[in-house]
Amino acid sequence: MATSPPQRIQRLIDMQAQLLAQFQAHFGAPATHEAHAPGRVNLIGEHTDYNDGFVLPCAIDFFTSVALRARTDRQVNILAVNAGNATDCFSLDSLITPNPNKAWANYVRGVFNVLQQAGVLLQGLDMAIVGNIPQGTGLSSSASLEVAVIAALCALHGSEASPEQWAHWAQQSENHFVGTQCGIMDMWISATAHANCASLLDCRHLTSQHCHMPERLQLVIINSKVERGLVGSEYNQRRQQCEQAAKHFGQSSLRDVSMVDLLSAEANMDPVVFARAHHILTENQRTQSMAQALMADDVVAISNLMAQSHASMRDDFAITVPAIDHIVEIINGVVGLQGGVRMTGGGFGGCVVALMPHRLVGVCQKALADNYRAPSGALAEVYLPAIGAGASARELEQVSALT
Ligand code: GLA
Repeated sequence: MATSPPQRIQRLIDMQAQLLAQFQAHFGAPATHEAHAPGRVNLIGEHTDYNDGFVLPCAIDFFTSVALRARTDRQVNILAVNAGNATDCFSLDSLITPNPNKAWANYVRGVFNVLQQAGVLLQGLDMAIVGNIPQGTGLSSSASLEVAVIAALCALHGSEASPEQWAHWAQQSENHFVGTQCGIMDMWISATAHANCASLLDCRHLTSQHCHMPERLQLVIINSKVERGLVGSEYNQRRQQCEQAAKHFGQSSLRDVSMVDLLSAEANMDPVVFARAHHILTENQRTQSMAQALMADDVVAISNLMAQSHASMRDDFAITVPAIDHIVEIINGVVGLQGGVRMTGGGFGGCVVALMPHRLVGVCQKALADNYRAPSGALAEVYLPAIGAGASARELEQVSALT
């Protein structure tokens, strides 16, 4: 069943109220600051971010929220409401290292570690975290957690670091502390998004262009309910194959390889490495064309570009799975040239993204209910997100004595 935007706004208000109440109940004093950071969906431009290429994500109105209050000592206490009120604690006086038993905690510890190394003066604090981004589905719940924690810490410490800087810190934390070799797309859009816009981000120059979404198209996300089991190892392998392809041309990045050069080198390249590079080069082109198509409200171009992107992820980059391909076929059968559909995110399961006229949303939901089951037997879950703005943080009104 899809949740409508008004239902989700109410749930969000309830979630944030719950966060402040849980904070007070657990730590015995009210929070003084809060921050919210959105998840994201990528419309097109997959695996291009770590190749210095182009991506076109937008923020969705699903969030991670953080509430905190300074302490007078150097202790950091974390309460994770979604993890069954699990807790983690560490001291700012010793080196912050990963917690081997709590994966969720390392997204928070990593941020403290990076900020400490960046010379941001941190103080002890109590922090509670809650979120409603479906986890493990490729909608960037972890990037939004990192960005929300950074935004909250910057608000507490009066830091004037920009949202772009928040994104860099979040990526450093993920790359060097959590150990995932992701690009910058997820944290960048969570930190900097503009409401009702997708961002065409040039990942080499870190410049972005905000593209208004055509009002007649609804953004639809379909959670395949296929767990993204291989994503870590396969992701890193794709990254290495792209680096190998760039090296073939004496370059450090595929951004500096032209299609003419790639095609003329095909006979001398490992066919798998050639195919990976072919995806990246064609995807960079499609992503820039998609930004034009969105701004021109050219739905036939949107449809074709998303279809080509999906085929390229399936055939050249080999990151789709049969269940995801099946969802794309079902939606395509309903929507045709009136909208677009493709897998979104790192691959090997997770979500499909579609843009379609509002009147076709119900028809697609019925087609999925009639024709799709995940290998586990689960039904797909459909989200109809609003396209939201990036992270925000604020000081809450009451201030009383420190704990
Ligand atoms: C994951 C990574 C991103 C990006 C996508 C694929 O979401 O975190 O940096 O590489 O996969 O486009």
